[in-house]
Amino acid sequence: MARATTGENRVVMVEMPPDLPILHADQRRFSQVLGNLIANAIKFTPAEGRIAVSAFVRPDGGVSFAVADTGIGMAEETIAAALEPFRQLDGSLARKFEGAGLGLSIARALCELHGGTLSIVSAVGTGTTVTVSLPAERCEKARLSA
Ligand SMILES: Nc1ncnc2c1ncn2[C@@H]1O[C@H](COP(=O)(O)OP(=O)(O)OP(=O)(O)O)[C@@H](O)[C@H]1O
Ligand SMILES: [Mg+2]
Repeated sequence: MARATTGENRVVMVEMPPDLPILHADQRRFSQVLGNLIANAIKFTPAEGRIAVSAFVRPDGGVSFAVADTGIGMAEETIAAALEPFRQLDGSLARKFEGAGLGLSIARALCELHGGTLSIVSAVGTGTTVTVSLPAERCEKARLSA
């Protein structure tokens, strides 16, 4: 799905409930959403950190995916900037992390085109959780395991 720009082998924990509904989404584009978020989690988390991808059904019948890491995190007041296209929080020439600054803004746009939302909870030095949520209309009641 996603490849770390560092080329390191990293473990990503995946937790999916067995009763996840069938989702109606553009498969390629929605995979790109998750791929961009996982790529960020890998890039901004040191090798000894943890990365977890999970999915859950919300009480309103929609489905959310959370990509959580224990990486460098972002300050609350910089999160809006991180969502802007071509923005990287470390804009210095000597910055450590490669990228165009597009992954998050593309993920949010694709998510919103699906009628969903993207939200970020983060703290410097603690880590980041990005949650993408699809509305109930995109989730079929019949479960995959049924
Ligand atoms: N999981 C994360 N932990 C810490 N900072 C993050 C995380 N995800 C994004 N950021 C910050 O937000 C900025 C924008 O992220 P975005 O994915 O849009 O760009 P990028 O990863 O730098 O480049 P690209 O995705 O185009 O390769 C990043 O440069 C980084 O500063
Ligand atoms: Mg990125």
